[in-house]
Amino acid sequence: MLRKMQTKFRKNLGSHRLLNKFIVGNYSKFTFIAIILAANFPFLYFAFSFDKEKAKKLYIEQCSKCHRKDGRGIKGVYPPLKNSDYVQNGDKIELLRGMIFGRSGRIIVNGEVYYGVMTTEVDKNLKDEDIAMILEYVYKELNNLDIKVTAEDVVKAKKLGKLPPHK
Ligand code: HEC
Repeated sequence: MLRKMQTKFRKNLGSHRLLNKFIVGNYSKFTFIAIILAANFPFLYFAFSFDKEKAKKLYIEQCSKCHRKDGRGIKGVYPPLKNSDYVQNGDKIELLRGMIFGRSGRIIVNGEVYYGVMTTEVDKNLKDEDIAMILEYVYKELNNLDIKVTAEDVVKAKKLGKLPPHK
């Protein structure tokens, strides 16, 4: 029994040594790979992350004159986009259709009634990914929701066209 345990122990020790040897032996290879990854990481990071500064700039240009820079809107006139139950419960494509083609009629946001008209508010020259980025900004920065919006979503919204007015 004891011998069995001893041999088992030796075997384990042996494999550990082998692993150590492998790591030490390949140390230069590991550092090499780490350097390559580190060198490419900033690029990968920017390629896949949400460009908050650009999104904020677009939001301010396109939406802040009514919904204000902080997204709080003007009570009774322009509904809030910040912490808006309408945004949080709304359908992504529907929100995009409103941004692209405008929206009107009676709408209740955070318990407040709005009866306004929002005309087409996004600049027609904006790229689909820029429009997507604005809604992503509203989700992420103004509502703390981690929702991705893509150019494909914008294409879908454009195909569906203008929203019927709320009753
Ligand atoms: C000219 C003023 C104006 C601008 C600019 C504007 N909106 Fe609006 N928005 C309104 C009004 C008014 C309503 C309420 C419409 C209604 O009563 O049906 C509204 C409603 C909304 C709603 C639904 C209600 C809510 O608060 O959640 C969303 C979402 C929205 N706007 C997003 C945007 C985004 C994103 C932009 C920028 C691309 C934008 N709006 C630009 C005036 C504006």
